[in-house]
Formats: sequence, C-alpha cells, structure tokens
Amino acid sequence: MLNALPPDLQSLLRAQERFEQIRQRWSRGPARHGADLAYANPYAGPPAEVKEAITSAMQSGRALSLQYTPYGGATIPRRHVAQDLRKKHELPYQWQDVVLTPGAMAGLNIVLRSLVAEGHSRRVLMPVPCWLDYPLYLQQQGLQSVPVSLQEDQHLDLGAIEEALHEDTAAVLLSQPGNPTGISYHEQELRALGVLLEQAEARHGHPILLISDECHRDFVEDASACPSAARFHPHAVMVYSFGKRWFIQGQRIGFVAVSPNMPQREDYRHLLTQLCRAMGFCTPTALMQNALIDLLAVNDDHAWLHQRRKEVARTLQQAGYSCKDPDGTFFLYPRVPEGMSDFAFCEQLAEQGVLVLPAAMFHDQDQVRLSLTDTDAAMNRALPILVQALSS
Ligand SMILES: Cc1ncc(COP(=O)(O)O)c(C=O)c1O
Repeated sequence: MLNALPPDLQSLLRAQERFEQIRQRWSRGPARHGADLAYANPYAGPPAEVKEAITSAMQSGRALSLQYTPYGGATIPRRHVAQDLRKKHELPYQWQDVVLTPGAMAGLNIVLRSLVAEGHSRRVLMPVPCWLDYPLYLQQQGLQSVPVSLQEDQHLDLGAIEEALHEDTAAVLLSQPGNPTGISYHEQELRALGVLLEQAEARHGHPILLISDECHRDFVEDASACPSAARFHPHAVMVYSFGKRWFIQGQRIGFVAVSPNMPQREDYRHLLTQLCRAMGFCTPTALMQNALIDLLAVNDDHAWLHQRRKEVARTLQQAGYSCKDPDGTFFLYPRVPEGMSDFAFCEQLAEQGVLVLPAAMFHDQDQVRLSLTDTDAAMNRALPILVQALSS
C-alpha cells in the first residue's frame, strides 16, 4: 500500500461505504427484484429526444467536433446556457460567466478550491442535512465545514447562520432545493440570508461566497417558489448539473455560473477556468457540449414525477410515517419508526427488497431518503413493503 486517505477523510467515506455493503447484498439476492429507491437512477432511461440530440451531436460532420475544447468550455454552448439562465433567473448572465464542467461534482470542487486560492478565510457554513459529499470535498480541500442545522420545517435557520458567520467564514454552501429534504428556500429567507452575508462582509472586510447548488431545480413543481439563491447576494455562484435534468447522470456535464453582480467577476471566472486546468477536471466531453445546444430545447415536463411524489407521500403519511410534502426533487425524506436507527431500518427494508438511503449519508439521523425514479412496477412493489415496515 503506497498511501491511504487520512482518518478524517476516511470517516467521511464510511456511511456511504457501509450502505454500499447493504446494496451489494441486495443486488446479489432475490431482493433485487424489489425496488431501488436509493440513488436517483431513472430506470426508465432518458427521453427519446435526449438520445436523439446526443446521437445527432455524434454524427456532426464538423472538423474537430470531437476534439479538445477550451477550459471553461466552447463558446457556442456557453452562449446557449447563458441565454437559458437569463430567461429563468432575472440576472444578465454573459457567456463568459458560465464555466462548463464535467458535472456538479467538478463544479463544486473548482469553486471550493477558489476559496483556498484566496488564502485568508477557511470556514464554510453548510445547512444540514446536506448532499453527502459536501463535507468530504471541504475536508479534502483543507476547508473547515461548519454544519448548521435546518429548522424543524427544513427551512434555513437564519439565527443560527448569523451566529456562525465568523471572521474566517469564506462561504455558505447550500442546495436549492434541498437534497435530501426536497424543500425549496423561499425568496424571503434567501433575501434575509443575503442581508446577513452583506452585513458579515462589511464587519469582516472580505467577501463571503454564496454557493448555490441547484442541480435539482428543474424538478420543482412551482419554479417561482424556488428562486435561484444567486439572486440575493453579489458574491454568488450557481452550480448545476444537466445530468439530472435529462436523466443522463453518467454523461458528466454541468456548469458553474458566476453572478453577473459579482464585483470583479471577470477575474473570478478566469480563476475558475484556470482551476479547471490546474485540477485536471478540464471540460465536459466535446460530444456533450455539442449536444447541449439541442438538449436545451428539449421539453422537460416532469408532471409524472410531481404526481408520483404526491401519491407516495400521501400513502406514507396515511400509513403513519412522519413525512413532509417536498416542493420538488426526486426524493421523499420520511422519519424511521420510533426506536430504530436509520441504518437498521435501511437494512430491514433491503432484506425485504426495497433499497433506500440512510440519513447518515446526509449528515443527519432518524430518516431515510427515498428516490422516486424506479419504474412504476417497482414503485408498486415498494409501497406495500414500506407501509408494512412501519407497523411491523
Ligand atoms: C445536490 C447535489 N449536488 C451535486 C451532485 C453531483 O452531481 P453530478 O453527478 O452531476 O456531478 C448531486 C448528485 O446527486 C446532488 O444531488
């Protein structure tokens, strides 16, 4: 063995690795014919128009259409993304504000690395529960993650955030809408967050970056109730992944969009493109960048998902689960039965055929995350097992 990850990083990998053992047992046994409600893998696959757009990009006769592209991405797809952002977010994005990345994971990492490059402030506040790998990335970059619990209603606890905003706070990192909660932060609370950040910036004399991970924003039923957090603070970036929007999560394309209101935004977006090179993340494949142009025109109507989310939430609530009605996302996040741990419940369900994720993976406890992206037939198999599990 040449080397091993340090213990603090190892411990952040542990919950997912423990779940992976459950998943492997599930996938080798008869239970795998149940339902996979763990990761958001869309079993029905991407829509036909999505596959057509990728195929047509592959067949392009243009010279160099499958060769290297500039760091930050090719200009034409960046222009299309900026135009899409201008339409949706009331901010005058230019194409240079959009840095194309191989998915949101790479986007998050270049943004976090940019905080280290600035040198002086190192704490990053993070409302929890949160997406599983935020603390891992922070730790890996030498930044300190400061978890700040959400309120009982799963909205931002602005009092706790205000208290946690210290002199060495470099950023606030949140997902909008929340993953795993599925709750959108509303305009009023984001506006209040923006005020807190501006006050803290004035107090401490340096910018505090608001990093808004908006990977799941297209799966919110009422987009107007899920404004981009980047609208409410000038030092803001949006991180996004097209993998979710078109159910092509393995194709690794996303972006970081720098707020048009950011002071010296030209320098910051240049830094991000330099980091794409320095960190070796480069750009998404040329194929996916070319496909983006047609993909942006694909109708992403997710009415089926909203319907399914409501029906499954209602069934679980009627069975006695404490389960909030999320505003969007693929997920439900119900409480586990009294006296049971999230991992124990997850193991019990896996033995009965239903794979779900324990809250420990989201730096939380006593809940499980259910993804609603398996087939209709699988959902129909899963529901009676979930209902029965609460009473048994
Ligand atoms: C909130 C959130 N952020 C980031 C990611 C990573 O996205 P990608 O796979 O596109 O890099 C995910 C994926 O599940 C996510 O849910």
